[in-house]
Amino acid sequence: MTPLDKALSDTVTAAFAQGFGSAPDLVARAPGRVNLIGEHTDYNDGFVLPCAIGPSTMVAASRRDDNAVHIVAVDFDNAVDAFDLKQPIERNPDQPWADYIRGMIMALQNAGHALTGANMAIAGNLPKGAGLSSSASLEVAVGKAMLALANVEIDHSRLAQIAQSAECDFVGTKCGIMDQLISAQGKAGHALLIDCRTLALTDAPVPDDIAIMIVHSGVTRGLVGGHYNERRRQCEAAAEAMGVAALRDANLDMLAAAGLDAVTTSRARHVITENQRTLDAADALAKNDLTTLGVLMAQSHASMRDDFEITVPPIDELVALLQRAIGPAGGARMTGGGFGGACVAVMPAAHVDKVRAAISAEYKTPAGESPLIMVERPGPGVAIL
Ligand code: GLA
Repeated sequence: MTPLDKALSDTVTAAFAQGFGSAPDLVARAPGRVNLIGEHTDYNDGFVLPCAIGPSTMVAASRRDDNAVHIVAVDFDNAVDAFDLKQPIERNPDQPWADYIRGMIMALQNAGHALTGANMAIAGNLPKGAGLSSSASLEVAVGKAMLALANVEIDHSRLAQIAQSAECDFVGTKCGIMDQLISAQGKAGHALLIDCRTLALTDAPVPDDIAIMIVHSGVTRGLVGGHYNERRRQCEAAAEAMGVAALRDANLDMLAAAGLDAVTTSRARHVITENQRTLDAADALAKNDLTTLGVLMAQSHASMRDDFEITVPPIDELVALLQRAIGPAGGARMTGGGFGGACVAVMPAAHVDKVRAAISAEYKTPAGESPLIMVERPGPGVAIL
């Protein structure tokens, strides 16, 4: 176990003991993720290239003899939530964090899984609002814990689909499958090229001498805010106008011929070009060609900024600083849903100190602080510890 995991596991186990007076039966861990390239392509049946990272959400859980679920949320001042598995599960307007858990449990039951009552303590060490999938990791960890308590083994891609439905149908963010799938299926030392139409996973090894740096802009974001769902609607409208099932099936010639309005055209152009960049980036990574990868990451960022319009000025500034510090040795772009959050950079491990020093010296968050910088190796997906 890594020191990071050990500390979080100790925290969640101690919170469980304090809340419920015994040791938990099990601890489930599901990681956050960083997406190297392929943004807003997942719900267009396209390609993404994420990896799981070290920070995660952990759920310490024990079975109960009744149908109640009791939860202690360490990260929300040990706030508690409780509900009954056999009653209709509703949203909890006072505690939005609880909706990810309620939604996941409802989705598991809707998928036909017979669950038992449970006591749970939950804690995470992912920065919230950084676009590193703290919510997906929460859903996947809760799902894994609840199924393990009920002695159910499940395919992890199926678990991810159930978690995605919790977020879409219960929480109300019409997200794609990327975050839940990489949290469930992540593989140490690898990014995964995911075909979001078939859910086929292709290993993309990340050699030890390549570093993945994540820098949080300090602009926090929330997906439920509406921009995300609006982008999705625009993509679906573009696909429908071109007579294809999803933008995955469109190309730039079809787009030019479609005569769509300027905004819808730019949204679709981002997705169509981003799909190709993601495939090309996976090729470049396989050839250890970080220069080409860097060019593709720069194009991806420009496309998110100009065509998809999901970046914000501090993020553009941070990406430009990273690109300058890294030069042709690698690349940088915003990662995740947008409107704030983190940037991802890929570079030779030998460049990390230099780039870290440059960013610490030159970038301040909107609150005037030094940014959070994480250097990650791709980690494993969900597991019972
Ligand atoms: C969020 C969503 C994902 C994906 C990304 C953008 O993280 O949850 O499904 O759409 O935004 O690539």
